[in-house]
Amino acid sequence: MELRLDRMAQEATRLQAASDDPLCAYLYDLPALRRHIDDVVATLPERCEMFYAVKANAETPILDALEGRVAGFEVASDGELALIHERFPGVSLLFGGPGKTVSELSLALELGVELIHVESLTELKRLARLLERGGHRQQVLLRMNLATDNLPSTPLTMGGVPTPFGIDPEELETCLAFLTDHPSIVLRGFHFHLISHQLDADAQLRLLDDLFRQVEHWREQHDLDIDQINVGGGIGINYREPHRQFDWTGFCSGLAMQLDEPRLRRYRIRFECGRYLTAPCGYYLMEVLDLKRNHGQWFAVCRGGTHHFRTPAAQNHNHPFVRLPGRGGESMLTNTRVSIVGQLCTPKDVLARQVEIEHLAIGDLVMFTLAGAYAWNISHQHFLRHPAPIMHFIDDEESA
Ligand SMILES: Cc1ncc(COP(=O)(O)O)c(C=O)c1O
Repeated sequence: MELRLDRMAQEATRLQAASDDPLCAYLYDLPALRRHIDDVVATLPERCEMFYAVKANAETPILDALEGRVAGFEVASDGELALIHERFPGVSLLFGGPGKTVSELSLALELGVELIHVESLTELKRLARLLERGGHRQQVLLRMNLATDNLPSTPLTMGGVPTPFGIDPEELETCLAFLTDHPSIVLRGFHFHLISHQLDADAQLRLLDDLFRQVEHWREQHDLDIDQINVGGGIGINYREPHRQFDWTGFCSGLAMQLDEPRLRRYRIRFECGRYLTAPCGYYLMEVLDLKRNHGQWFAVCRGGTHHFRTPAAQNHNHPFVRLPGRGGESMLTNTRVSIVGQLCTPKDVLARQVEIEHLAIGDLVMFTLAGAYAWNISHQHFLRHPAPIMHFIDDEESA
């Protein structure tokens, strides 16, 4: 995963020089995104496929960069479904997420999604009723909320504990009986998205081993004719120690060994990652407006804030950044600790708390890295009605 800091800094300085107002912008590095995706996909073992979880970032140039590189898109609402279908007709779509409405399921059938990841018996019943009317068949995976021995603890857990996600294994028999009575719904396998923010490749391999074992057990126990396992997304980005990222290469070689086992050769394994694919290509820029000391602590008040970039507040971390010398303002801090905050009227508008800096001046730019996933699109953008950031997509290399 490549961060072209010099190139991004050059572009940031150019944007600042062109703006009379203090700058606030997202920069996206599309060539780096394409290379990252190509590396990730090329490293996957045989019979594995990478889908993109659109919820991580649905900016059109990002989607365009991904299309043709990933095997397809995982969508989790009618909005995402319609967006991707309209932009890439014919692309493979996986429709997941809790609380699917009748109209969403109906749209999914109309647009011909490849698979629906069913979250409950209620959804199965809704789908069966729609299929009775339409007279065709639909392939599904059952999303299971499984407690496994090797379920790691991460800051975002969707499974193995009480959550609204997936089907409790205790309900599996009822769901399978329903499927036997409704042959228009074709079970192709199981889906799991149990955690996000996984940073440990060995722990992820242990988890997958549990999942594979469980699916094999269910297949034998219920005599199922299945051939797919979707292991979700959840590969993390290390915001706290950016130089220690998930070992994707090591993970893929471990997975290749697991999948070499004869009993697993029948399965196609699908991933639907979001954060790991797009976080590295995004940068959020804020210009320093004010430097002030209050009750013994320094604060850099910057253009923008968590209403543009909620990631650090949502994940409760100090987001990594680099300082770019800017307009040459009057006040300068050296070798001290400072909190980087935004313009909102709330003490929660903090992007990095009491972090060590060498220099920082009014007019400088603070450039947050790893800001390309769950960033602009998860932020409360209208709070206080400050202007939106500039969205700037850098595409300075021919795409292959
Ligand atoms: C069902 C499902 N799949 C995939 C993802 C993508 O997760 P991540 O961005 O952690 O890879 C999510 C995220 O919430 C999800 O809920």
